[in-house]
Amino acid sequence: MQIEIKTVEDIVASRSLAKEMAKEIGFGIVDQTKIATVISELTRNIIKYAVEGLLQISIIESINRKGLEIICEDRGPGIANIELALKPGYSTSRGLGMGLPGAKKLMDELEVSSEVGKGTRITARKWL
Ligand SMILES: Nc1ncnc2c1ncn2[C@@H]1O[C@H](COP(=O)(O)OP(=O)(O)O)[C@@H](O)[C@H]1O
Ligand SMILES: [Mg+2]
Repeated sequence: MQIEIKTVEDIVASRSLAKEMAKEIGFGIVDQTKIATVISELTRNIIKYAVEGLLQISIIESINRKGLEIICEDRGPGIANIELALKPGYSTSRGLGMGLPGAKKLMDELEVSSEVGKGTRITARKWL
């Protein structure tokens, strides 16, 4: 499922869609809420730093388990130092700097790939 992220309404819509998909494959309410929180943080970052982007939510399957994958992609300014951006409290916008480190904690896997001047792609997965 793909959603264009441009407005606060898009964030709200993607939160409920992600929750719905998570519920469908068997995630409990706590995990559904964690996933929705991650969607909020990543999509808010898109609007804040890149103005617009694309969110992809997919149900994934490995040999013995199911999970949910979130991919956030934008063609914004990119992140110069990914390691730093993942540290709690680091923010280039006087934010709390807890979005990316928080998302990493709430998911099982989180990868950031980014190039300055080109954009950012964040892939996050949570397994059942
Ligand atoms: N999509 C993005 N494009 C460019 N920079 C980003 C993006 N997402 C995050 N960042 C950078 O990573 C930093 C940390 O992000 P985050 O943990 O969400 O904290 P905050 O948004 O409060 O600053 C941001 O301050 C910003 O510099
Ligand atoms: Mg943020």
